[in-house]
Amino acid sequence: MISIRHLKKVFPNATPLLDVNAEIGRGEVVSIIGPSGTGKSTFLRCLNRLENPTAGEILIDGKSITAPSADVPVLRRKMGMVFQSFNLFNHLTVLENIMVAQVDLLHRSKKEAYEKSMQLLHRVGLADRALNLPEELSGGQKQRAAIARTLAMDPEIVLFDEPTSALDPTMVGEVLAVIRNLSKQGLTMLIVTHEMKFARDISTRIFYMDEGVIYEEGTPEQIFEHPQKEKTRQFIRRLKVFEEKFSGGSMDYVGIVNRLHNFAEKNQISGKMSRNMLYVFEEIVAQSLVYKIPDTEEILLTMEYSGENEGLMAKIEYGGTSLNPLDGIDDVSRSVVSLATSDIKHEYIDGKNCMEVHIR
Ligand SMILES: Nc1ncnc2c1ncn2[C@@H]1O[C@H](COP(=O)(O)OP(=O)(O)O)[C@@H](O)[C@H]1O
Ligand SMILES: [Mg+2]
Repeated sequence: MISIRHLKKVFPNATPLLDVNAEIGRGEVVSIIGPSGTGKSTFLRCLNRLENPTAGEILIDGKSITAPSADVPVLRRKMGMVFQSFNLFNHLTVLENIMVAQVDLLHRSKKEAYEKSMQLLHRVGLADRALNLPEELSGGQKQRAAIARTLAMDPEIVLFDEPTSALDPTMVGEVLAVIRNLSKQGLTMLIVTHEMKFARDISTRIFYMDEGVIYEEGTPEQIFEHPQKEKTRQFIRRLKVFEEKFSGGSMDYVGIVNRLHNFAEKNQISGKMSRNMLYVFEEIVAQSLVYKIPDTEEILLTMEYSGENEGLMAKIEYGGTSLNPLDGIDDVSRSVVSLATSDIKHEYIDGKNCMEVHIR
C-alpha cells in the first residue's frame, strides 16, 4: 500500500533522513522506535507532506504523492495524523471539533456529521463529553477526542506521532486502549512511540530508526527478542554503557572509581549494586589483573546497565596469553567476588581474553 523509496530530508542544520526505504502493506500496524532526534517525526511528516522531502519517492497504492502534481489535501484526508499535542480547536466543543472538517471538507450534511461524530465519541468512550470544551477535558480525554476527529475523515492510514508522550502517566493506558482497538480493525497505522510493551503487543512490524535510515526492521519478536544489530540491542534493553580503556601499567585508579560512581549515580543504579560494581573492579581488575599482565597490555573495561531489567554486567577484555585473573586469588578476595556477583565467565578466543561478570 505504501512504498517509500530513497526518501531523504535535509534541513539547514540537520539531515534526519538519509535514505529511507520501506514497503507497508494494507492493514499493517508499524511501530517506529528509536532515540530522539533520529527523524521519526520528520518521516511521518514527509508521508503526509507536512514536510516536503528533499529527494526520493513515496507511493500510495502505486500513485506518487511526492510528485509536483500530487493533490495534497486529498492525500491528507486519506492519511490522518494524531499529534503529541492533540491540536484541538479550543473555542469549539468536542463535538464541533469532530464535525467541522466533515462538513467543510467532505461536504457531509450536519446531520450526517453529527451522527458520525457521536458514533466515534462512543467508540473512544467520550459520548458524555460531546458538549464540553477541550479545556474541560483531561489530557487523555483530549487525545481520545483528537483520535475521534482523525477517524471522522475515514482515513485509510493513520499516523500517530508519540500520542501518549504529553500525557500524565495515569492517562497513557486509556489512550493506548483506544489505539489498540483500532489496530484490530484493519486500519493501516504507523505509530511513533516509546511505549515498548505496547508496540510489541499490537504491531505487525517494528522499524528501528537511527542514522537517517530504517536501521533494523522486523517482527516484534525479531526486534525485541533477537535484535541483529548492536545499536538496536542497546536501545531495546535501554543499555547505559560505561567504557574505559587503559593499559595495565598506567591505570588511573582514583579517576576510574570516580567515574564508576558517577555512572551509577546518573543511571540510578541501586546502592548495593554500585558497591558490588566497585568490588568487582577492585578485586578483579585493580588488585589482580593489572599485576598479572604486562604493563603495556590494554584493558577495556565496560559496564552495561539495562534500564529494562535493572541488570548490570561488567565486561573486561584484554590481550596476551590466556589468563583468568581469578586464578590464585586469596580467599578473602574470592569470597568478596562471589558475594558481589551472580555469574562469571572467562573466555579466550583468538588471542583475546574476555570476562563477563554479572553483578548482583
Ligand atoms: N522544521 C525543521 N527545521 C529544521 N530542523 C528540523 C526541523 N524538524 C526537525 N528538524 C531536525 O531534524 C532532526 C530530526 O528531528 P525529528 O524528526 O523531530 O526527530 P525525532 O522525531 O526522531 O525525535 C533533529 O535534529 C531536528 O532538530
Ligand atoms: Mg518526534
